[in-house]
Amino acid sequence: MKYQMSKNYNLQYWNELCESFEAVNGVVGARKIMDIPFDIAKWDSLGDYYSQVISKEYKGKNGQFFTPQTIVNYLIESTKYKSNQTVADISCGSGRFLLVVLEKMIAEKKELQEIQEQVFGFDIDSALVRITLANIRSFLAREGYQIQLNTMFNISVQNSLENGVGLFGKKYEFDCILGNPPYLKATPKKNLGHPNLYASFVEVGINYLKKGGKLGFIIPKSFVSGTYFARLRQILSKRVLTKEVITLYERDKAFSDVLQEQVLLTLENREPNFKDITVGVAFTNGEFKIKKFLSAFSIVFWDEDIMCIPSHESDINLINKCFKNGFTKIHNSGLKVSTGQIVAYRRKQYFQEKEKQQYRPLYWSHNITSFGFEPNKKQNKRSEKMMDSEEVKSEKLYEEVLAFKRISAKEQNRRIEGALIPKSKNGYFLENHLNFMKRETEKAPSLKVMELLLNSQLWDKLFRLINGNTQVSAKEIRIFPIPHNIESLENYERGKIDEKRLEKIIHQSYELSAEESDYILSSRKVMV
Ligand SMILES: C[S@@+](CC[C@H](N)C(=O)[O-])C[C@H]1O[C@@H](n2cnc3c(N)ncnc32)[C@H](O)[C@@H]1O
Repeated sequence: MKYQMSKNYNLQYWNELCESFEAVNGVVGARKIMDIPFDIAKWDSLGDYYSQVISKEYKGKNGQFFTPQTIVNYLIESTKYKSNQTVADISCGSGRFLLVVLEKMIAEKKELQEIQEQVFGFDIDSALVRITLANIRSFLAREGYQIQLNTMFNISVQNSLENGVGLFGKKYEFDCILGNPPYLKATPKKNLGHPNLYASFVEVGINYLKKGGKLGFIIPKSFVSGTYFARLRQILSKRVLTKEVITLYERDKAFSDVLQEQVLLTLENREPNFKDITVGVAFTNGEFKIKKFLSAFSIVFWDEDIMCIPSHESDINLINKCFKNGFTKIHNSGLKVSTGQIVAYRRKQYFQEKEKQQYRPLYWSHNITSFGFEPNKKQNKRSEKMMDSEEVKSEKLYEEVLAFKRISAKEQNRRIEGALIPKSKNGYFLENHLNFMKRETEKAPSLKVMELLLNSQLWDKLFRLINGNTQVSAKEIRIFPIPHNIESLENYERGKIDEKRLEKIIHQSYELSAEESDYILSSRKVMV
């Protein structure tokens, strides 16, 4: 075959395929050059085909994952897009959002000229711009518009984040911006201080909006916590009116290759009113279903450090009762939460055994499970001990600590897993994938009780509400609430009391109702 199948990127191949696609769809002047290797009747069959034949590496490196039609439809609905508005997808891929926009314009019998003037699409990738054009031309031709191969549309190759167009200039202003920006790591300096391109796209998207214009994006949920995303949270809470944040329930089903948790964000370019925000969950397996409800602004945006996206109405009560009920937070209770100091690649030379040297145990994340400290558990070639020396003295611990894993995923049964490490006369080291809690004053709660709380279903639920990535950061745990009558929990020991009963006793200490308690016990299975 002429192009040996285009696993590798080949612009000429896509040009010819697009023109053939246009020809069979009735675009005047398009010549049929090659056979179409897919069923053209399917929605965005061109984009689907591109996704199939382009290598996974290329798509991953360039953030090219196309949005399912149900989600496109929903964002168009949530932004209340009207067919007389100007609309843009500033990272348009194969043009899926624009195809649904066209459907609406066609239903309203818009003239070709209006379509040409009102619909905009940009992408950095020439092949995708060509595909979007072919999709638009073919769709309009099929619907009876007189489309020539040279009929112009506002679809162009652009780096939407580039100087002059996006970041620093205002060449365009739209009523509506729709899309699914690329999720790619970025250098914060070059991207308006954002760590990931999707956050830069939200900011640039807002810059492209008219006053009162709306933006509807599907983006990862990682911006809800972590210092890196403070700028985006600040924009969403202080600069614009954030109207909706809906969590996508099936993490890896909406896009077959995307592994991040995602949300559907809708905002308006005007001053925030600090009133209710629509939140909820969208289920994307099979039929698209959405459950929405209103939440107070103060539940969603706490401060610059934390955002919380309730997915169930009961979550609002939980947040109010646990985080906003005047309980002392961990960092004010005499407890200190830190991260293990040993970064393995920096301390490698201390792992090699040398004669006449003193060695101390080194504990890793695999040595800790929920309530389980397994000092002798081995994993791969990870060193079980580390050389003691003047240089690493300050990284050594002697006291009892409550260690907990720093990385966990939504699918795991528990997001927070911790266990006590007993005190040691000669000391020990903790690797950097573990966090730990220790007592700094006599008044601090006992670590045994903290172990019960840390591993409780209640804390797991609360943690899921305020976290959008795979990290369990010390910073997030520091704001967790300590119940008033914590001493009463001293009487309970795991293993000596039925687990469900213990969980309920913990709930009572936070003054939760029986219904709220049942909600937590049942939500373990659902994990939202
Ligand atoms: C996740 S895809 C979404 C495509 C389309 N909006 C959709 O929802 O199906 C993101 C797109 O952004 C494009 N892209 C990446 N960096 C870009 C940039 N700096 N400017 C414009 N487009 C960019 C990629 O080529 C890719 O097509």
